Order: sequence, then C-alpha cells, then structure tokens
Amino acid sequence: MTDKRMTDKRMTDKRMTDKKPIYHTILIIGGGLSGLRAAVAVHEAGQDVAVLSKVYPIRSHSGAAQGGVNAALGNHPEGHDDSWERHAFDTIKGADYLADQPRAEILAREAQERVLEMEHWGAYFSRFPNGRIAQRPFGGAGFPRTCYAADRTGHHLLHTLWEQCLRREIPFYNEWLVTRLVVDEGRCCGAIALHIPTGELHVFAAGAVIVAGGGHGRIYAKSSNAYINTGSATAAAYRAGVPLEDMAFVQFHPTTLYGTNILITEGVRGEGGYLLNADGERFMADYAPQVMELAPRDIVARAIQTEVAEGRGIGDGYVHLDVRHLGADVIQEHLPGIRQIAMDFAGVDPIETPIPVQPAQHYSMGGLACDENGETPLPGLFAIGECSCISVHGANRLGGNSLLETLVFGKRAGEQACRWACRWACRWACRWANQVASGGGIPQESALLSALHEEQAAIEALRARSTGERQIALRRQMQATMTDQVGVYREARSLAQAVETLAELKDRYRHVTLDHRGKAFNYDLVDTLELGGMLDLAQATALTALRRTECRGAHWRTDHPGRDDENWLKHSLATYVPGEPPRITYQDVIITRYEPSERGY
Ligand code: FUM
Repeated sequence: MTDKRMTDKRMTDKRMTDKKPIYHTILIIGGGLSGLRAAVAVHEAGQDVAVLSKVYPIRSHSGAAQGGVNAALGNHPEGHDDSWERHAFDTIKGADYLADQPRAEILAREAQERVLEMEHWGAYFSRFPNGRIAQRPFGGAGFPRTCYAADRTGHHLLHTLWEQCLRREIPFYNEWLVTRLVVDEGRCCGAIALHIPTGELHVFAAGAVIVAGGGHGRIYAKSSNAYINTGSATAAAYRAGVPLEDMAFVQFHPTTLYGTNILITEGVRGEGGYLLNADGERFMADYAPQVMELAPRDIVARAIQTEVAEGRGIGDGYVHLDVRHLGADVIQEHLPGIRQIAMDFAGVDPIETPIPVQPAQHYSMGGLACDENGETPLPGLFAIGECSCISVHGANRLGGNSLLETLVFGKRAGEQACRWACRWACRWACRWANQVASGGGIPQESALLSALHEEQAAIEALRARSTGERQIALRRQMQATMTDQVGVYREARSLAQAVETLAELKDRYRHVTLDHRGKAFNYDLVDTLELGGMLDLAQATALTALRRTECRGAHWRTDHPGRDDENWLKHSLATYVPGEPPRITYQDVIITRYEPSERGY
C-alpha cells in the first residue's frame, strides 16, 4: 500500500471509530461495470471518489454477462454497412418505440469509442483472423455488431475496469450494504451503510452520490440474476424521492437453463443455434419468419411460452436449444462457458445433446428516472446501469446493449457528477468555510448524524423483536407471485391479485423477526433489510403493469391486445408515498427522428 493510501486508510479507520461522516466528493454505490466506469471517469476529472459495494467488486453481477457488447464497428464480413445510426434505429425499434430517441442515439454514437477504449485498456476480446475484434449477430440487430470475449464478455470487461481502478488507487469499501440515502435541504448529501463483516452502521457524506447498484431480478422466483440482485440501492433512492420509471417492462430472457435458470447466452443463437419444440420443429418460423431465432427477446420468450402452453413443450415446460450442427470446434471455441454450464447443471454436453431452456426474468428496463447524464430529479443523486432508467431500452432491451449502457453512461454520469459537485461546492463554499471555522464540521453533518441515529434505532428495534414471521416466507411468496402473476403473459385479474398480495406482504413485513441476532456477517439481517426494498420495487412493477392496458415490448396483456400509441406512448412514473401505494404519473416519450411504426421481424 502506498503512503497516501495508508494515510487515507488511517483517517477512514479513525472516522469509522468516531462514527463521524466519512467524506468523499463523489460516492459511488455499486462496484459493477457502471460503478467502476464512473469511478474511472471521476478520477480522470481529478476528483476524489470512492466506491461502496455490497460484495467484492469482481463478484458483481456484471461478471455474469455472457454474449457481448454492441458497437457498430463493421468488423464482421456482413457488417460493413453498419453504422451508429442503424444501431440507434434497431435499439428504438427493439424498444417498441418507448425509448427516448436522443438518448438511444447517444448510446449508439458513443459505443465505438467506449468499446475500443476497453480494448486499449486490455479487455480480452475474441478476434477475427485479421486481428479485429470479433462480432456476432444478436437478436433485433440489422447487422452482426455484438463484440464478444467467447461467452464470458462481462467477466473480461469487469476485470479490465477493476484493473483500471486499482491502477488509479481508487478507494473501495467492500461488503457494505447501503440502507438509506440522506437528503437534507433538498439535496442528497450521503448514505447510511451497514458494514457487513462487523454489523456496524456508518454514515458517508458526499458532494454527489451515484447509484450503480444493478438490477432487482430477485423479486422473481425464476431469474437469471445473482442472489445479490435485490435492488437495495434502487429502493433506497426510490424512498429518498427518485421516481421509478417504466417498471412494468421486465425482460424475460428466452433461454435460461431449465431448472436453475442460469443464463444461456443469446450468443448461442447468434452462433447459429436452433430452438426446437417437442416435435423437433424450429417453431420460430411461426413467430418471426424472417429472423427466426434472432428475433428480439420479448418475441422469442413469448414464442417459447406459447409452445409450452399449447402442448408443444418438453417435460413440464421447456424447449430445446440445439447447437450440435455447429460442431465441436465452434462450440469449444465460442461457447466454452455454456458447454460447461450445461454439463455441470443439466448433465448434458451440447456437442451431443440439445440444451433444455425456458424463459426467466433477466433484466429490468425500468429503474430510477434520470437523464442522459444519469442525473435524477433529486439534486446530488445520479443513477446508472440496470438500476437506472435513462430510457434507452424502452419496452424491450436488445441483447448486448446493457454492457454498452454501463460504459457509455457510467462515463457520462461520472463526469456530470463532478461538474455537479463542483458547482455545489462553489455555491456552498462560504457556508462551509464559516461552518468549519466555527468548529461546526462539514455542512449537513447534523442531518447525516441524525439519519444515522434513526437508522441505528430502527435496526436495534428489529434485533430486539422476539416474535413474528421470518423474512424467508414473505420473500418466497413475493417471488412466486411475481413469476406467476407478473410474467411473460399478463392480464388484469392476476395483476390485481399480485398488487393485493404485495400490499398484504408489505403489511406483514412490518412484523418480521430475525433468527440470528449476532453482528458479524449477519445475512439474516441483510436479507430482512433488503426484503423491505424488494417489496417496494415489486409493488411498483405490478401496479404499473396493471395500469398499462396495452401490449408493448415485454409487457404483454392478453386482455388488451395490440399496442396503443394513442393512449400509451408514454412513460409511467411511480413515486414513493410512505405507507401507501406509489403515486403513478405519466410523461411523454421523446420522439425525434423515428416515427413509431409496427414492429415486424
Ligand atoms: O444472452 C446474453 O448473453 C445476455 C446478454 C445481455 O443481456 O445483454
């Protein structure tokens, strides 16, 4: 450790012992790709930054991303005519026209620079024989534009950015759970966080906070997401006043491994894999005859679900993903991770046997409302990555655009947060100087400390409660409700039932009790704290899905067939109201170049 880091560490240790706020100009919550890319951007801007992560950063869920990252590099022999404009168009069409178009254009326009930057930082991409980054076809894309590192793209990108952070000596607080964001005088000025190894609560102060906490897929029973994907940071920001945008739009990945729902990358179909029903038919011919298995995910997931519902599924509800015709060399070189997963978790070697797959929750298009720089309506708070809704994915995200989003908007949000914090610091400089001179500590210290004490009291009350239900029963009921009633196909009656069940679960949650009351690594406490936020996110998802009476992208209402642009070409916003269901309002979609038209594939 260098001298500077030693000094920083000693100061931090002392503040932790004193329970004084630990200050950083920019505090990033989340150590996945978005958070790390933002941290590098802040460091490059010469500002002080720290990353607070629930897990050791290279265990973040970004590392599970398999298939690739989109950029119109034109390296593929069939991709020479590709362009960022085509990428933007495919993204907007794939989104069923719910994306804010200028933002989708930013995503596509900045893609090449961000991907090449990762290459220059050492990301280990697969290559074409001419040495250029290899690209494969992905669903809904007009050209093969998904750059990949075999089927472990997220892993390689995450390690590359981690190295960049280490190289810059960016401080990390690992195994910290944020339980609450602190808002004072209308500004987000910090966060309260639980240090999981010791069970101690601390308060962090910041000039600006960036939430990069990832998705909340674990509100569903069947999900490709890691167990850490509970949306804890999203829920903290929602409770602090940031609206959740377009939560009804949940992506169900068509091909997760039957049984465990581990992701089986779209790259398998990009390499030429077939989807087969119980009769051995390539059923996608009936749903998307032009592009077959390479239709966008919402269409393929519905096709599989329909095959199963109409009796052409296999076993108790899956279909086959067949790659045998690709041959052992292609499978071993391009899909080694998938082969290993299929052998380890389903007992089949894809070289010889088709892989059993079924749709499962994979990604949330919705999230914390923010603009193209990650700026949320709450001053001082930024959001990026899956927890955000910059609105580039609209009603359905194209595969390969989420890794891209982390790089493009991570950088932009990091830079904008620096600008914001500097503006704020100038405005407050006099007050700060006076306050510090009179021994009053940092601005807003009293608000930060009183939030810490309130949070401490709430956790102590939970620890002290001796009767009540265990969180796990409630969690399982929430997950089953979401999978069964807020799934691929939806209708009013089951959505209304889901809303009712979630309200009842929220009520029961107020009386949960812990099995384990110790302090160190108390995951019973962590899970219980997280469940409160998960219920909030599930409620916003189910309620906005119930209200949206149309079919658009991943939101498919069997009782309201067809897209309804006249009434529903708008974003849904859910605002947190303590003790009540969220308030739902609507906002226009930003349409610039591309007039909404019917999606055909
Ligand atoms: O199928 C996949 O590899 C997933 C990619 C993504 O979600 O973008």
